[in-house]
Formats: sequence, C-alpha cells, structure tokens
Amino acid sequence: MNQKEIKKIVSEMTLEEKAGMCSGKDNWHLKSVERLGIPEVMVSDGPHGLRKQEDKTDHLGLNGSKRAVCFPAACASACSFDRGLLQELGEAIGEECQAEDVSIVLGPAVNIKRSPLCGRNFEYFSEDPYLASELAKSYISGVQSKQVGTSIKHFAVNNQEFRRMSCSSELDERALREIYLSAFEAAVKEAKPWTVMCSYNRINGVYASENKKLLSDILRDEWGFDGYVMSDWGAVNDRVEGLKAGLDLEMPGSSGVNDEEIIKAVESGRLDESVLDTAVERILSRIFAYWENKTNTVFPYKEHHELAKRIELESAVLLKNEDQLLPLKEGKKIALIGQFAKEPRYQGGGSSHINPYQVKGAWELLNGVSYAMGYTLDDSAAEELAEEAVALAAKSDAAVIFAGLPDAYESEGYDRRHMRLPEQQNHLIERVSRVQPNLVIVLHNGSPVEMPWEKQAKAILEMYLGGEAVGEAAADLLFGKANPSGKLAETFPLRLEDNPSYLNFPGDGNTVRYQEGIFVGYRYYDSKKMAVRYPFGHGLSYTTFEYSGLKLSSDQIKDTDCLTVTFKVKNTGAAAGKEIVQLYVSDHTGSAVRPEKELRHFAKVALSPGEEKTIKMELTKRAFAWYHPERKDWYAASGEYEILIGSSSREIRLSKTVCMENTSGAVQRIEANTVIGDIVANPQAEKVFSKYMDQLWKAFGKPKSDEMTRQIILSLPLRAVRSFCYLPSEELNILLNALNAAVNETARSGR
Ligand code: BGC
Repeated sequence: MNQKEIKKIVSEMTLEEKAGMCSGKDNWHLKSVERLGIPEVMVSDGPHGLRKQEDKTDHLGLNGSKRAVCFPAACASACSFDRGLLQELGEAIGEECQAEDVSIVLGPAVNIKRSPLCGRNFEYFSEDPYLASELAKSYISGVQSKQVGTSIKHFAVNNQEFRRMSCSSELDERALREIYLSAFEAAVKEAKPWTVMCSYNRINGVYASENKKLLSDILRDEWGFDGYVMSDWGAVNDRVEGLKAGLDLEMPGSSGVNDEEIIKAVESGRLDESVLDTAVERILSRIFAYWENKTNTVFPYKEHHELAKRIELESAVLLKNEDQLLPLKEGKKIALIGQFAKEPRYQGGGSSHINPYQVKGAWELLNGVSYAMGYTLDDSAAEELAEEAVALAAKSDAAVIFAGLPDAYESEGYDRRHMRLPEQQNHLIERVSRVQPNLVIVLHNGSPVEMPWEKQAKAILEMYLGGEAVGEAAADLLFGKANPSGKLAETFPLRLEDNPSYLNFPGDGNTVRYQEGIFVGYRYYDSKKMAVRYPFGHGLSYTTFEYSGLKLSSDQIKDTDCLTVTFKVKNTGAAAGKEIVQLYVSDHTGSAVRPEKELRHFAKVALSPGEEKTIKMELTKRAFAWYHPERKDWYAASGEYEILIGSSSREIRLSKTVCMENTSGAVQRIEANTVIGDIVANPQAEKVFSKYMDQLWKAFGKPKSDEMTRQIILSLPLRAVRSFCYLPSEELNILLNALNAAVNETARSGR
C-alpha cells in the first residue's frame, strides 16, 4: 500500500479510531478496524528467539510461551564479532515470525554495558557502541529481509534495571552522542528498523517516552528514521506530550484511558490532529508492509537449533589455555563437575525468556567422562558435594568445572549486587585446584564475574548464556571438534571497584550521574593503563595468528577522504581457525579529551593452517571524529592519528600514523575569547592574523624558536591582543570581522 492510499484510509477514520490505533489492544496485539480493512497484527519478544504468548500474557517472562528455538543471548552472540552470523540469526527469527504470524520482533537491544552489574547485560551486545551497532545492523537486516519488522531498543540511555521506570540518566552531550546514541545511530540510519522502542527512564530529566530531542530531533530529523516509535511496556508518562514528542504507539494499551486523553486533547485544541494523523500513518504503513507480504513459512526447528549451536560455537571465548590443556585429549580420564554440566544455564530471565525446543548438557553428549555435581545453585549441601568432586578430580587426568551464575543473580527487573560467583562455587574451584592441576573452568554467565581462582585454572572457556545448544557447543569445543573463535565484547575487570561507573551506579534512585562520561569500558581501562582480568576484544584459539604488512592508502588525508587500511593475517599454527582482527584509532591531535583508543572496524577471518589473507578496511571522517557540542556536529581536528591493528584492545600488533587535515576549520565562529591556537589552526584565519602574531612575539621579546613562549601565545584568548599589542577595541572588532570572514571562506570552499 502506498503513502497516498494510507493517507486516504487515515482520512476516513474517526477521531476515536485514530486515537485507538495509537495504543495496543492487549499485551501483544495492535487494534484492527474492520470496516477499513485494517488487520490486527501481533508483536512479540525477542530478541534471541521468539516468545509468542497465546494464553496468559505478560511482559516479564512470568507466563509460558510457545516452543521456539532459544538462540545465544546477545552477551554471547556479540563475541562472535560476525556480521554474517547475526544476519543469519535475524533471518531465522524473521522466518519464525512469519511462521507464527508475528509482525514485529521486539529487538535487538543495543544498550551499552556501562556497569557489569546491570541485570540485563546478558541481553545487550557490548560496552562498545560501534560493535553493538554493527551487529544490530546485521540482525535487523536479517529479520527485515523476511518482511517482518524489528524494534531496536531501549532508546535510550537505559543502562540499569534499578528504578528503570523513573530514574533519570544524567549525562553530558558527548557521552550521549559518542557512546549511548552511537549504538543506535548507524543501525537506524543504515538498517532502517521498522520501529524503535523508547526506554522507560528519563534522560536529563525528560522521560524517553516524551523526549522530543530524542524521538523527533535526533531520530527523525537527523537520522532519517521513518518507521514508528513504540513505548516500552508501560513507559508512557503523559500520553499527549508523548505523541507530540514523537511517540506513536503506546504498548500495551491502557484500556482506553490514554486514547481518551488524546481525543480530549484534539477536541480542546491542546493537540493538533495532524500530529495524530502522522502517527497513525506511520503505524499503518508498517502494518500493511507486513500484512501484504505475509508468507506461509513453517518453523524449521531442527535447522534453527543447528544454527543456534553454530552461533554459540563461534561466540564462546577461550579466555586462557595454559600448556595447551585444551582441547582435551581422547582416552584420558576426565571429570566433569557442576550442575551446569548436566543442566546448562543458557538464557536469562525476563521478557526475553524463551520456551526452548531442545536442551542438552555437555555431560549427556560426552562418552566416558565421569561426573560429580560439586555444588547446588541454592548453596545447600556444600561440604558433601565438594568432597565428592574433589575425590573424583584427584583420580582423574583433568577436571572440568562448569560454573556460573544462578538465574536469580541476573535478570530483567533488578541489578546484580556484586560481581562474584556464588561462594560455594569459588570454594569448590579452589579445593579442586589443590588436587588437580589440569583444571578447566567453563563459565555460564551473562556478565563478567570476578575470578579469585584464575591463577589456579589452566584453562577458562567463557560460554556466556549461549542458548539452548550451549551444552553441545561446549562438548565440541572442549574436545577440539571445533576451534574457539569468539572474543570478549566487554572488559572483564579485576574487581568491580575498578569499573568506571562504580561510584555512580546505580545512583540515588531518582537520578544516576554518568560521571565517567565517554570513558566507558576499555575506553577507561586503557586510557588509565589499568590492569584488567581480560581486556576487550580478547580471545584465544587452538591455533596462532601472525599480523604483518600494514599499509595506509595515504599518510596524509583530508577529513572528506576515505582512508583504506590493508594488512595481512596468517594462520601460523596447525589447526584451522578464525581470527577477529580489530582496528582502533587513537587521536594524537590534542583537540579534545579522548579515550586512548576507540574501536572503528573489525573483521572475522577464517584461515586454514599456513594460509594468509589480506584484510581491507575503510575509514571515513566519523572514525576519527568526536561530537562537538558547540558545533552540534562530528568533528575531526587536523593533526596526527594512529591506526592500531590489534588482536585485542591490549594487544596491538601493527600501527601507523596518518595526518588528517580538517577542512571545516578548528572553530566555526571566532570570538574575543577564542584562543589563538584555534585561530591559527585555520589556514585562512592564520593569514589574517599573521601580522598580530608577529606583534605578540615582539611583545614577549623572544625568538620564534622559543617553545614555551609559543605555547603561551597559542593559549592566549584573542582579546589579549588588546593588552599585549595595545589594540583599541574598534580595531579588535575589525580584526574579528576579518577573521570570521576568513573562517566562512574556509567553510564555503572546503579549504
Ligand atoms: C522490556 C522490553 C520488552 C517488553 C515486552 C519490557 O519489560 O523492557 O524489552 O520488549 O517488556 O515484553
């Protein structure tokens, strides 16, 4: 149905029908209008599987849902760093939606992992916005290729569960743009999700559900979003203000209470009816886009289960592997320990909870291994179970402890209280390590844990909440049927107190201050050169890789150019494997406070033994830029930037410097308080100012080679020429005009 036809339908709707269209019929359905042929469509959670509820419904995963395949949660799949795989995941979920008559899947969730304590971190991709948005892009285009919509969520700055429905996230513009919105930006601009879900919280005091700056100015005017915005479940504060700000659909319905508010507001003139019409048009155009492309797909459980396993195989992260203990050798006496070896924890609690198709523990799949339970999830019978496990480990050649967080430790709705594993598990690991040096730890958790026993474990395999096939994947990885190739999408700090948000998480209940600003995750740890347990981007393989031959297309570029970076990666070991290569940019221009390095590109490369491939990555201005609040735009200063190629944020293998020329000028408008350093950074303005520069040098009585004097002059505000060059105020004004004319000329000519 085209726009004209949609407009026609809207023109035939009554005010009541239009207001009704802007809220759900129940938890999962939108309303229909039979007389105009508007069908009833359904939305469902997501994101890592389909949670279609038919009988008792709720938005917190409390009641059951139809059986579906539970794919690895985002905490796991992000570690694949694999765009293609996320596209496949999206396609599978899109197919399932088609099979189950679901028009929109409620995801992906791209909120940034600000603190390891956020109860919902398992649903989120990363602490890095570039990685989060790249993966979200692929997921969205996968789902939407099946003519089903997505709802990228939770927009925005929703990084904790504590008081999530009322708390205000207080942050500065750079943190907002560079970190928290960035995760949404590329996904919205490039993958064009059909819908966006606004978050519950307030942002700098204004509810996301009525935040015009977010929902209209940025989302629509700047990023070009043309779908509809829906509320998170119950996120509406003032329905009419929300509609005005750009919130089209309220979910679920409010039994007509808020529809009534809309009607009254139109009748009283508080709300322009055209605002309502626009919202209805946006909703209808997505309803029909789905309805007209409905297919009769069947749900291929088995195939999707295999995909869930493949994703987890690519996502598990081998954190440590001393003496190449892994893969385990066949024919040895192996002890599997821990309840998770039999009943893996494979997903988190809340609205993303899936009723799985088939779950098996690693123990069930491995022949000839022995088993001891070791611990319970409710911390009971500790001594007895530990003794039994220690005895078994002592008479084995190696012990594999499946440890992790119980369900109650992390969930939607509340945050974690600490970063530790249950004490019973820590003690068990400690005791087993005393009798068995060949100790492997397999972890099931949605977010980092402290590892007081790290030195005693020879190998650690992080499986995260790896979906219903996590046990199968663990069995294959432990015995080398598959080679681990995931890398961490978040830093594992040594202890919770090291996290940059530690002093300001989760706030006082009314507000939470993002004092760490742009220094989130590795941006903080790396800038501070702090020791961490495992850095962002870290992950080992059963083979080794060598990096070489870094080349830049030029060592001198303008901010309007595209820089092509090439380098080689070679598999130097004996096993086939995949390496995730990462490109970081480090700003040496000194133009602003910047993190030591930021991820700007990555690729996953499959290599057989001895094989070498050339990797090509392209960078445009945005890869170098920071958000300039005064310019209200992205800005890359002139000067040097280092291109770093790493196997993690801490293991930089190759680097080269590029010199960038900014074509828009260091400042846009010169004022009496603009510093001379910023003025002379603009070549045209520098020419105009050269006469005064000479006078300043004279006034300081030093040769131009004197570095200290140069630095002092560069940091003088322009008005200082009055004091040091005795310039009358009128002449300062003339100079200001001439300088601004030069700056404008630079902006016009792009030079
Ligand atoms: C969650 C959303 C979810 C919605 C519907 C809310 O509690 O925050 O992520 O999509 O419920 O279940």
